[in-house]
Amino acid sequence: MTSISYCEDASTWLLETPSTCYGILLVGSNRLPVNLHWGRKLGHGSLKAMAQAGDLVANTRLSWAEEDRLEYTGWGGMRYDEPSLKVDFPDGGRSIEWRHSDSRVEDEDGSSVLVLTLRDLVYPLTAELCYRVFADCDVIERWVRLSNTSDEGIFVARQSLSANWWVPVSPTWRLTYLHGAWGAEAQLAEVALGGVKTVLESRRGTTSHEAQPFFALDTGDAGEDHGQLWSGQLAWSGSWKIVAERTAAGYVHVSGGWNDFDAPLELRPGADLVLPVFAGLYTDGGFGAMSRAWHSYELAHVLARPTRRLRSPSFPQAKGTTPGPAAPLASGQALPALRPVLYNSWEATAFDVTEEGQARLAELAAGIGCELFVVDDGWFVGRNNDHAGLGDWRVDPAKFPRGLSSLIDRVKSLGMGFGIWVEPEMVNPESELYREHPDWAFHFPGRSRTQKRNQLVLNFARQEVAEWAYRTIDELLSQNDISFVKWDMNRHFSEPGWPDEVGRNPERAWVEHTANLYRVLDRLRSAHPGVDFESCSGGGGRVDIGILSRVQQVWTSDNTDAWDRVAIQEGFSYAHAPIAMMAWVTDSPNPLTGRRLPLSYRFHVAMSGSLGIGGNLNEWSGAELDEARELVARYKAARHVVQHGLLYRLASTRQGDLGAVQFVSRDGQEVVVLAWTGVRRYGPWPLRLRLKALERTASYRDKLSGEVRSGADLIDLGLALPPGQDWVSLFAHLERQA
Ligand code: DGJ
Repeated sequence: MTSISYCEDASTWLLETPSTCYGILLVGSNRLPVNLHWGRKLGHGSLKAMAQAGDLVANTRLSWAEEDRLEYTGWGGMRYDEPSLKVDFPDGGRSIEWRHSDSRVEDEDGSSVLVLTLRDLVYPLTAELCYRVFADCDVIERWVRLSNTSDEGIFVARQSLSANWWVPVSPTWRLTYLHGAWGAEAQLAEVALGGVKTVLESRRGTTSHEAQPFFALDTGDAGEDHGQLWSGQLAWSGSWKIVAERTAAGYVHVSGGWNDFDAPLELRPGADLVLPVFAGLYTDGGFGAMSRAWHSYELAHVLARPTRRLRSPSFPQAKGTTPGPAAPLASGQALPALRPVLYNSWEATAFDVTEEGQARLAELAAGIGCELFVVDDGWFVGRNNDHAGLGDWRVDPAKFPRGLSSLIDRVKSLGMGFGIWVEPEMVNPESELYREHPDWAFHFPGRSRTQKRNQLVLNFARQEVAEWAYRTIDELLSQNDISFVKWDMNRHFSEPGWPDEVGRNPERAWVEHTANLYRVLDRLRSAHPGVDFESCSGGGGRVDIGILSRVQQVWTSDNTDAWDRVAIQEGFSYAHAPIAMMAWVTDSPNPLTGRRLPLSYRFHVAMSGSLGIGGNLNEWSGAELDEARELVARYKAARHVVQHGLLYRLASTRQGDLGAVQFVSRDGQEVVVLAWTGVRRYGPWPLRLRLKALERTASYRDKLSGEVRSGADLIDLGLALPPGQDWVSLFAHLERQA
């Protein structure tokens, strides 16, 4: 049964999700699609009444007027707000005038897609606006396919955004977003939307640490557990932008997609361009409900898993055209497999990697219960520091005289899987690859090639580079029993030139680099279905739902200081599922911040995501290893609740010196609570956590202490934190009594 319907009488399309709906009106002689509603459930009757009331569509007879709420605005006429699309035509024309030509609905594996086709009145340019709704979640995926249907003539897209989301009319709007920096990713911030544009963006060639392609709008009064939110996320891991804007007519819209900066895209005759998904979500129930809905969507439809069917673009592309990414995200599968407890040797050994050294760490890691052992940077030829080696992906015989397989056998005999670090998009000038192919790195002729961490970015838009990367990693995975790849990307783009393509739209490299990265990952996953992937970019510089549909997890931040992580992880949890959030326990004092924190505290922070260990276990005392073993065991007993459950934020360090989260299993039978204090002032007054989402009349037993308490008791009186002043933490695992 489709959840998309058309009312002939009212000219309205109604898209229904389990708890929300989205209404579109086809207006005027050109039948232009205009947004009527995005929010709580309504029927066609209400949409018709809204259309007749006229205030939302009063000006749409002037199809180019700024005052309308067009679903996809082409730049032209007296329109000064952010256009969805801006195109140059071969005869010098640079504006767009749409007419709606047809609509269709396609039903696919538990989801339905509405396709509204717009054609330019004069030029053979078509935009198919696609909207996917699911039977099991309220996220609406939107994307666009642009086509040049002419036999000759190149169209140049100066700006081609994926979707334009209109929110209801309100005098106030607040934008919540995620910004940051290296070591300080996913910081929450908010701004009142005034009469100026607010632009969130990356011009760095990747998602970036500085901003994440996520937004949440509310009318200023939403809290953790109450209030309506309109939020969105872009499925793109290259340069992007999201523009939130109040138009002169007082309407607020958010448009987003590829960043247009320095990136005109040629659309050749017969070419299609599939733009990335910009997913939107309306929720009622505060930031908590919003996050849980995003988590459920990621679990069910985004996060990669070995058996997931890869969905290539559903629309064929003409040969030799600018390729878009595989647009639709939907996988329509059950929950992904639970993540193993991982050990990563980076903070322990850095570049000082040897078979013996790694084997010693592997024994200790297995001894405390780790299930996957990952050798990070430093295993390949020439890689004794960050000055050389990137590009030469051959095992260093000085470090591994018997090849990798000898270490892999030892790791596997300890009962763990084996993982490895790679950074295929990068090259050190000090490498054989660069000496052979200096042109493979992005550069402008005659200009400096700016290095960061002594490395340059390889131009993945070049097919031979993408092919080389695929073959290199495919060989590594075919020759070794590897079950996990950490795919790193440690610097952003500079001088993104492609001299061989001058005159042939070399700027398309901004987009094609990422499109080819996706293709390489998709091919590798298809050829090696037993291998899991982690996306890393100098920590959390590449975290978005585009990459998440190709990897099982992401590295959240190079900052492993547990107290700093509390804030980073809170921001992460706004948009992304805890299962995807890799969180390591590392040494004390922390190598980055120098802060000393108890081992249990460091564990309790990392246990709110996918647990990893990243400390130098050689330096841990016997007592610490025993404690770690016990905490890993506790995590394993609770991880299904953390990784597959529903997250409720109980306290935020943005409001004080206490952070806390609660996870509830989807069947309501188990509850995990984690809490952490900072440096407390004015005395160690008792702290209690009042739990959420429990059955008041049910009884819950603490699996550690055996204490049984009623739901009402836990909700109204709460769980007491252990006594103490600074750096106190709590882990509790409760189960509901029959
Ligand atoms: C940056 C990553 O975030 C670290 O975890 C580590 O893999 C280094 N790169 C290795 O160069």
